[in-house]
Amino acid sequence: MTVPIGTGFDPVDAAVLRDPYPSYAWLLRHDPVHRGTNGVWYVTRYDDVRTVLGEARFERAGIRDFWAELVGPGPLSEVLRHAIFFQDDPDHARLRALIGPAFTPRLIRLLRARIERTADDLLRPLRPRGAMDVVNDFAYPLALATISELIGMPARDRDALRAWSVDIAPTLDLLASPEEIARGQAAMGQFVAHLTELIRDRRENPGDDLVSALLAATGDPRPIGTDALIGTAVALVFAGHDTVTNQIGNGVLAFLRHPRQLALLRAEPDRLPAAVEECLRYDSSVQSNSRQLAADLELSGTRLPAGDIVVALIGAANRDPARFAEPDRFDIGRVQRPAMSFGAGMRFCLGALLARMELKAALGRLTGLPGLRPAIPEDELVYRRSSMFRGVVSLPVTFAAGVP
Ligand code: HEM
Repeated sequence: MTVPIGTGFDPVDAAVLRDPYPSYAWLLRHDPVHRGTNGVWYVTRYDDVRTVLGEARFERAGIRDFWAELVGPGPLSEVLRHAIFFQDDPDHARLRALIGPAFTPRLIRLLRARIERTADDLLRPLRPRGAMDVVNDFAYPLALATISELIGMPARDRDALRAWSVDIAPTLDLLASPEEIARGQAAMGQFVAHLTELIRDRRENPGDDLVSALLAATGDPRPIGTDALIGTAVALVFAGHDTVTNQIGNGVLAFLRHPRQLALLRAEPDRLPAAVEECLRYDSSVQSNSRQLAADLELSGTRLPAGDIVVALIGAANRDPARFAEPDRFDIGRVQRPAMSFGAGMRFCLGALLARMELKAALGRLTGLPGLRPAIPEDELVYRRSSMFRGVVSLPVTFAAGVP
């Protein structure tokens, strides 16, 4: 297959948004460390992507500054400059040492039970209808409820959180328009006011949530300040709900496109954990992340100078034939090797366990719906316009209507 890489890889080209995998295959084969026309390096091999994502010499500060300039002064950059995903060591390590332990086994156990219950509650009114939009009727509300529970936001505030997040999310992608930025600034202002109240309340009435756990953390590393706590709560909301929503959609879509794999999972439900891993590998909701290089470095024989921007193409690493046999085959029975979907090393996803719990709850139930099939033709699916995140805007399906 030939791909128009001659003009430089463009992650938001319409054909690439729809299906980036032929371009990745071309890059992996012909130009694994590719210099885009914009001067950015695109890295595709599994081992190289692991190096870029997992090591301290690939920094985030330059990316943060670029983004802060794009959105201009205001609540967006004031809050998100504290977000863990914009920090470099030693601040990054310090914040991670605080946030990581706040995901206590007790909190995870509680969340597991709540995820199962929420998934059942969402599905109950949909079953008799025999039709739903997987993304908007099920995946998004499940992911949003889970992240609200995690940070301790009451259910009554969920509609507000949804509205803020819809307005803020587009500003995180380096493609935002001035109108989107203005909406995002206003929403972030309201979200911060709300979080400030929530934190004040949790100081007095601690609960089973991550904000309370972070407030209770003492000693070394030193306790978290209010600005960093707000930045952390916001970071968790944005790291943790569109990613899961899109991954549920991508997973269901993979099964709809591969009915034999769907039949296999139905016949052998014990394969669910392996199926979740294969969905993450085959079509990850996070396709890339970027860094700025702190020192000259050679990757796969190409010299990269300090200061250059490097984009690690996670979606390509997950299809690297040097790592995964027949990488373009969706196969829930394949010998499992960890995919790159949750990143690597010092920045490995802090929510991976939670995400896997949500994916199991969602995919287990959805693939079990009798007669599950797409309700619209493949070419009517619309992918989100994002250089980093991959998912369909909506995924209408039908199934045999049943008792709730
Ligand atoms: C399928 C769902 C998810 C995917 C595919 C995913 C993917 C990733 C990836 C690739 C990274 C590394 C980014 C980088 O190297 O720059 C990351 C980091 C992170 N993720 Fe996730 N994530 C998911 C769900 C979640 C959830 C549910 C949460 C929170 C509850 C979460 C919280 C975080 C945080 C806080 C980081 C930053 C870690 C650090 O900088 O040290 N993620 N995620």
